[in-house]
Amino acid sequence: MYKVGIIGGSGYTGSELLRILSMHRKVEVISVTSRKHEGKKIEDVHPFLAGFYDLKFVSPELKNLEDCNVVFTAVPHGEAMKYVPRLLEIGLKVIDLSADYRLPKEVYERVYGKHTGYLNAVYGLPEIHGEEIKKASVVANPGCYPTGCILAAYPLASKGFVERIVFDSKSGITGAGAKPTEFTHYPNLHESVIPYKVTEHRHVHEMIQELKCRVSFTPQVYPGSRGILTTAHIILNDCIELEEIISMYRKFYREKPFVRLQKTVRLNWVRGSNFCDLAVFVDSERRVVVTSAIDNLVKGASGQAVQNMNLMLGFDETEGLLTPPLFP
Ligand SMILES: NC(=O)c1ccc[n+]([C@@H]2O[C@H](COP(=O)([O-])OP(=O)(O)OC[C@H]3O[C@@H](n4cnc5c(N)ncnc54)[C@H](OP(=O)(O)O)[C@@H]3O)[C@@H](O)[C@H]2O)c1
Repeated sequence: MYKVGIIGGSGYTGSELLRILSMHRKVEVISVTSRKHEGKKIEDVHPFLAGFYDLKFVSPELKNLEDCNVVFTAVPHGEAMKYVPRLLEIGLKVIDLSADYRLPKEVYERVYGKHTGYLNAVYGLPEIHGEEIKKASVVANPGCYPTGCILAAYPLASKGFVERIVFDSKSGITGAGAKPTEFTHYPNLHESVIPYKVTEHRHVHEMIQELKCRVSFTPQVYPGSRGILTTAHIILNDCIELEEIISMYRKFYREKPFVRLQKTVRLNWVRGSNFCDLAVFVDSERRVVVTSAIDNLVKGASGQAVQNMNLMLGFDETEGLLTPPLFP
């Protein structure tokens, strides 16, 4: 059994890691940190996990993690960089869920601010970088929006067929983390949909990095807890028939167990699962519309992080992750 630690176990992605790892047959969670809840039992902070863990939260000090083989850093950007280099120094593998290692240093510093612990990491989108992830010591788990957006466009963009892409994404509110904000206050979001950071959301830089074309991105939040629905308007630089595009997508995702090509997508067909559902349409000569649906806490965060861990440790990619979605 490999031993796993989680820094940031009191947050949404941390508790989702605990939920998913409780079903994993080849690893054991031995250390989970929280500064706020140090000394409390996991089930006292996360009652939905009652009966699954006999563990108490510990402080995020190195001595509490050194018996692990792998550590997930599920903390805000700017905080992960304080831990990741030290974890690597003591020989652990790391999967970072924050933005700290997703971009080259100069892009990171332009977009997020000063980086004090930079090192090279593999961008952890297994459908694209699976072979590099297998050999990596540190993997930068992608952002939730970029996961759904990049998977929607990659088979066309990677062939150089794309002139530009306009992504329109709607996210459930857990994407903002567990701390209450003005957005998450019930009367502000209930029965509403809120566009935010229009033209300036930081996740666009991951999309450009992977898709290597012009990208516009508009995020919105809707009053649900989990799920990101993206509509990708993909402008091609030449005409391609729908059948040809669909066969391109089928070929690209044939061996990728978590991408499903559907006739249409719905958030409640992926909820609680690691699937990314895609549906492909062509509405005029050069415009392809691809809709994608993911659960932001699973394929958009903790499920994808476990998928990366499976590859890094040489397990089957799907270990612990092939649970069907929760419907209805
Ligand atoms: N939510 C999503 O859908 C999603 C998707 C993809 C990626 N992410 C990324 O994943 C990371 C975690 O997101 P989240 O939604 O789980 O956030 P969250 O609910 O706010 O939880 C963050 C956790 O980090 C811990 N933390 C904060 N500062 C820390 C520090 N300096 N040292 C140690 N622990 C610290 C906090 O625990 P204590 O205060 O108890 O120590 C808290 O439980 C973020 O970088 C986020 O951008 C989130």
